[in-house]
Amino acid sequence: MDKPHQVTPDIDVLPAHFPIPGMGFLPINAFVIKAAEPVLVDTGMGMDSEEFMKALESVIDPQDLRWVWLTHDDADHTGNIRKVLEAAPEARLVANALAVLRMSTAWPVPMDRVYWLNPGESISVGDRKLTAVRPPLFDNPTTIGIYDEKSEVFFSVDSFGAILSSPAQDADEIREVDLSRGMSIWATADNPWVHTLEPNKFSQGLDKIRQMAPKMILSTHLPPARNKTEQFLKLLADVPTSEPFVAPNQAALEQMLGQMKGGG
Ligand SMILES: [Fe+2]
Ligand SMILES: [Fe+2]
Repeated sequence: MDKPHQVTPDIDVLPAHFPIPGMGFLPINAFVIKAAEPVLVDTGMGMDSEEFMKALESVIDPQDLRWVWLTHDDADHTGNIRKVLEAAPEARLVANALAVLRMSTAWPVPMDRVYWLNPGESISVGDRKLTAVRPPLFDNPTTIGIYDEKSEVFFSVDSFGAILSSPAQDADEIREVDLSRGMSIWATADNPWVHTLEPNKFSQGLDKIRQMAPKMILSTHLPPARNKTEQFLKLLADVPTSEPFVAPNQAALEQMLGQMKGGG
């Protein structure tokens, strides 16, 4: 885990980064929205369990949380969900019904604490409305991003993520060429289906984000990005026709293992 920091007067990021051998680092963020009814967005990686809970406690007393918004049930988002629900007894778990169903195959999700939400639906958290939004790219059918109307921030889940050559605290610190390359690789690696899309159809989805015009994009897999929406949308528009990502195969693994042996 990296050090939590504030991105707006009432939003904190709980950042971490995951090394990807031979490629760089993937940011993995959770967020706390200090709304009248405080919200935790996602729960980090299970391998960071102790550190994650400490980072959360440094930002808010988990007992004060009223909502835990799970954007989808992938492991890099659900890592500490059970611990968080224990530490935050007053919090309800906001998730898509299918995410809850899928998680229920692994652990007994407390159904009386669950709040089911579909894209387009909203919850009120006291001082603002949070609306569930399906981001333009997603790697899991249960994905619900968030548009926070008060802060005009879009929590874009896996969309707008990037593999970076070194960890950064803010998207402004990343060289533009590295950002474009890292975002394009991530988009194709995480969403191989993007190449089956009609580029015009995909652009219509991007236009929805353009109309939303968020001031800030908070992706799980990118440092906070202010005033970069148009730049990002232009970048993503080219992804359907870009080169498909091919994951390393066994020959690549053997080469990597050989290098590790040689080096150690
Ligand atoms: Fe995902
Ligand atoms: Fe993810």
